[in-house]
Amino acid sequence: MSSNVPQPVFLRDYEPPSYRTLDTRLSFDVRDGYTRVESQLSVERRAGGTDTVLRLDGQNLELLSVALDGRLLGGNEFVVDAESLTLFDLPERCEITIVTRIEPEKNTALEGLYKSGSMYCTQCEAEGFRRITYYQDRPDVLARFTTTLEADASLYPVLLANGNPISDVPAGEGRRRVTWEDPFPKPSYLFALVAGDLAVMEDEFVTASGRRVALRIFSEPQNIGQCGYAMEALKRAMRWDEETFGREYDLDILMIVAVEDFNMGAMENKGLNIFNTKCVLASPDTATDAAHLRVESVVAHEYFHNWSGNRVTCRDWFQLSLKEGFTVFRDEEFSSDMNFRAVKRIEDVNFLRSSQFPEDAGPMAHPVRPDSYIEISNFYTTTVYEKGSEVVRMLRTLLGEERFRRGSDLFFDRYDGCAVTTDDFLGAMADVTALDLKQFRRWYEQAGTPRLQVEEGWHEGELNLRIRQSCPPTPGQGSKKPFHLPVLIGLLDGAGRDLVDGGLDCSSDAQVDVREGDRSLLVHVRDEITEIRIPGLPGRPAVSFLRGFSAPVRVEYPRDPETLAFLALHDSDGFARWDALQTLVVREIDAMRSGGEPAAELVALLGNFIDPALAGGASAEQRFLLSELLHVADEGYLFQALDDFEVEAVCDARDRLVVSVAANHAERWRALYEANAASGAYAPEPDGMSRRALRNTALGYLARVETGSALESLLEDHYRSADNLTDRSAALRAVADVDGLSDSFRSEMLDEFHRRWRAHALIVDLWFSVQASSPRSSAGTIRELESHPDFDGLNPNKLRALHGAFGQMNHRNFHAQDGSGYDLLADRVLELDRNNPQIAARLLTPLTRWRRYDTHRQALMTAALRRIEDQDGLSKDVFEVVTKTLATED
Ligand code: TRP
Ligand code: ZN
Repeated sequence: MSSNVPQPVFLRDYEPPSYRTLDTRLSFDVRDGYTRVESQLSVERRAGGTDTVLRLDGQNLELLSVALDGRLLGGNEFVVDAESLTLFDLPERCEITIVTRIEPEKNTALEGLYKSGSMYCTQCEAEGFRRITYYQDRPDVLARFTTTLEADASLYPVLLANGNPISDVPAGEGRRRVTWEDPFPKPSYLFALVAGDLAVMEDEFVTASGRRVALRIFSEPQNIGQCGYAMEALKRAMRWDEETFGREYDLDILMIVAVEDFNMGAMENKGLNIFNTKCVLASPDTATDAAHLRVESVVAHEYFHNWSGNRVTCRDWFQLSLKEGFTVFRDEEFSSDMNFRAVKRIEDVNFLRSSQFPEDAGPMAHPVRPDSYIEISNFYTTTVYEKGSEVVRMLRTLLGEERFRRGSDLFFDRYDGCAVTTDDFLGAMADVTALDLKQFRRWYEQAGTPRLQVEEGWHEGELNLRIRQSCPPTPGQGSKKPFHLPVLIGLLDGAGRDLVDGGLDCSSDAQVDVREGDRSLLVHVRDEITEIRIPGLPGRPAVSFLRGFSAPVRVEYPRDPETLAFLALHDSDGFARWDALQTLVVREIDAMRSGGEPAAELVALLGNFIDPALAGGASAEQRFLLSELLHVADEGYLFQALDDFEVEAVCDARDRLVVSVAANHAERWRALYEANAASGAYAPEPDGMSRRALRNTALGYLARVETGSALESLLEDHYRSADNLTDRSAALRAVADVDGLSDSFRSEMLDEFHRRWRAHALIVDLWFSVQASSPRSSAGTIRELESHPDFDGLNPNKLRALHGAFGQMNHRNFHAQDGSGYDLLADRVLELDRNNPQIAARLLTPLTRWRRYDTHRQALMTAALRRIEDQDGLSKDVFEVVTKTLATED
């Protein structure tokens, strides 16, 4: 290993900056092969400060000159190293002018200024701005930015930066110079610029107070027709944030730019959001229904950041969840309101369990507010985002909607224009409630998924629940203190009616709350053991525990399958129905690992959800819910739910359950398939979406029972009659996945799909990922696809489509006994780390779970990890993941 071992940064070492930067004037001269950046900073010593030294961050920069109050500094008047520029003996106030030269054309890390296709764009969060110029690249330094861009007028007719355009002049030699001014002080991570030959879609939004805001979505010309859905979603999001959170937009213009090479989903730069094409482009032929909903939620997410993130920002990167957890909560609520609450909740909890629970149980586990990191990019995690959102959701449940809104208003009022902490957020919430939130704060400090063990007792009309909470140790946190969490409980009578209806008297119990109009009890769990008694019940109820997933915990509640089946059929909470069913499915697959067929009761129960879907009067919401219920949990879900994950045994058991459900209800699947045929042209609307969800679910099952030419014509007809990508991709998935098709049929369909859609990068991504996740694809298949002419090993979307899908969705083959999946991943990570460390580190995720597998696989997985660890010159990103993953527990 190299002598230069990357060191962690600690929250406890936080210190405010010695100087503040008040004004930042940037000037970019964009030339072919390099860009010259001039930065003029007005800095001022912090009030009461005595430090005269200013250290600016910088990386991969060529420094051309430094001047202080107009005087060029000599080389002996400052110190430059690989990560910084330090100035000494500064006065209280001064002007610093720095000129650097950068090479965006060579920037494959996609941090800072880089080129994507023919356009220039930036990505500065978290620490990308330091790759543009020397700067105090930390979120607690807020400056007013003025940005001038000069570039060739014909190659780059569109020149954008944050804020409002204030001048646009010819600059000679066919060049143009445009200046933008952002009136809102902001940290450097929210800086953005774009230069390109882009098409634009224009619209307008009138805010609640009557201000007109120009809306612009830019993309490469061939994609501009796919921006309409995002534009409508943006307007819905703007209206919703006014109505739900009282938040109005603040600039005169709001821009979105679609770029093809982007490390994450999108970025909330002030007034100039930059999006991965995958999260903004949508049309019937190029985006599935699920992709449309994703666009809606990401557009909203970035828009919502304008308040939760930009107007009120983070003091330091340990506070990342201040903006991300809150903003995810806001986008989840928006999507719930635009679509169907229970369905959205099922999807979000499914994702949390499949992705965040394993993170919380593995070597990279960290609190929602981490206390140390080596590379902050590694902490854009499902813990910070999705668990962070769950924490905000619990706060709302504990406070009630009205108080929560008051707390949110107070937070925005109090901290507008400031860089603050998660404690400040909690403080605002605490100031609007009589509840003591001191214990609740542990949700930000302690990692690990808490476990609730529930015992139920019944005695003479009285129900007793004994809830014991515990939390497993995580790296660096051997023992945990109890959490304060809300448990929503419903009680159902024998006919499935809610017994709680604002009417149950639990007033004697301080831990239990029944709010007017509620159908659930709200139990405050605070201690290691919480016991509640509910007297005066007419008969023993079925207990619907943790309705709506009111806390991000695991529940162990021994109960008979009949009760769970009853809840799955009758609970008034859609999420609880799904959750009860998942418990049954997981139990069954667990029991089937040693072989054998699934219990007839479960197969019959699943069949019970087909009938209401067939009934003519089903609503779109019911259809969505039923299609969730009819889907057997994916391998990733089973992985976190089972104590022992034996790869082949679990995958085989899941397959047998699916085949059995398919075969036992074949007629009903056919009927469901027919009943939901399209009745008009495609629209991304609930009625059609929910029908496609059911019909494609039916198709998936039918593809498991049909064989030979019947199967081929089923899939081919479905494919050919489709007028949208949702249906085409469902056919394609079945083609790629199921046995019982000839190889020639399979490869012809895949080829044809590729030929027809290869001009659309996002559809080619889908084509790669369908194959990568197919149980028929081995590591060898992936290596062949890597050399396909349309694969691009530097494009994050392609890497996610191929290697991401293989590692996360193809358990059987990624975890092949011969170690070929691990070898492939290690090869790719090592190669990619030289070009794009962020993505390289992310690809490693499946290997971080190595302790959950059998000893044979553990040896292979750790060998692959060691091979990476042994490489010289690893990025901080990969170094951190690999070393923490291999570290022995403390
Ligand atoms: N703030 C962005 C979001 O959540 C996250 C993000 C976008 C990001 N691009 C990134 C984080 C690149 C790290 C690196 O919407
Ligand atoms: Zn975000």
